[in-house]
Amino acid sequence: MLKYFYLYSAVLFLTDFTVSVKTAYLKKPCEDFSEECLTKTLQMGLPIFVEGIREIGLESLDPYRIEKLNLKMPGDMNIEFKHGVARGLKKCRVDFARYKDHVFETQFHCNLTIKGHYRSVGRFLMFAIDGDGKSIIKCSNIRLHAFLTIKPMTGKDGMSHLEVTSSNFTHCYDGRVTYSVTNLLKGNPEISNAVVNFMNENWRMVAEDFGDPIVHYGISAVMKNLKKFFEVVPLEEII
Ligand SMILES: *[C@@H]1O[C@H](CO)[C@@H](O)[C@H](O)[C@H]1NC(C)=O
Ligand SMILES: *[C@@H]1O[C@H](CO)[C@@H](O)[C@H](O)[C@H]1NC(C)=O
Repeated sequence: MLKYFYLYSAVLFLTDFTVSVKTAYLKKPCEDFSEECLTKTLQMGLPIFVEGIREIGLESLDPYRIEKLNLKMPGDMNIEFKHGVARGLKKCRVDFARYKDHVFETQFHCNLTIKGHYRSVGRFLMFAIDGDGKSIIKCSNIRLHAFLTIKPMTGKDGMSHLEVTSSNFTHCYDGRVTYSVTNLLKGNPEISNAVVNFMNENWRMVAEDFGDPIVHYGISAVMKNLKKFFEVVPLEEII
């Protein structure tokens, strides 16, 4: 058992309403459910998973394109983020992965960069923001910790599949966050720069107060792919 890690770097045949996914496989680094083996397997599978497979609805997560995103921030600040791209998931380090009694627990460290165009109006601390420009956010060594409860279920194809029945996530900043933002106060580059400097000097407070909606957005993109992956790939091809 568990001879191969069947990874769905799939070729898809769409013929006469039949969709069949041909799974390509990769040799598993090991063959048990030990913490060491799960960690290695996840680390190996990560770049393939985040690359995505368009044909079966798995989006690319690295680069991850954000066409348009509206964020409501604390303090009545609205941010519209457009033509964005997030990178870095492919190279996350898997610290550990464990599985026990249907609960899968894992922790990652990642260096992530999000670039894009933003428009923002509202109050940020003592500043009245009215901005329209470019932004780059770099997170170095962000720590992501997840618990997923995973249960088998019968899929539409009559085969056994996995399903995430509940999950929770925490994140924290083991490295720092760096913000580069242009034109935060339209037509006032000096104050703009002063606010950006303030954000960088107080990066942790800014990330803790304003970062959650962005992290949650990223997590929901990953979860959407995972759900799709479990729907398409039967259990017997995963273990
Ligand atoms: C993130 O980048 C820093 C600095 O370049 C490096 O020391 C660290 O190992 C990187 N972390 C990961 C998870 O790749
Ligand atoms: C997250 O899920 C795990 C496993 O189900 C549970 O033990 C833990 O208490 C949960 N944490 C939170 C904050 O809900």
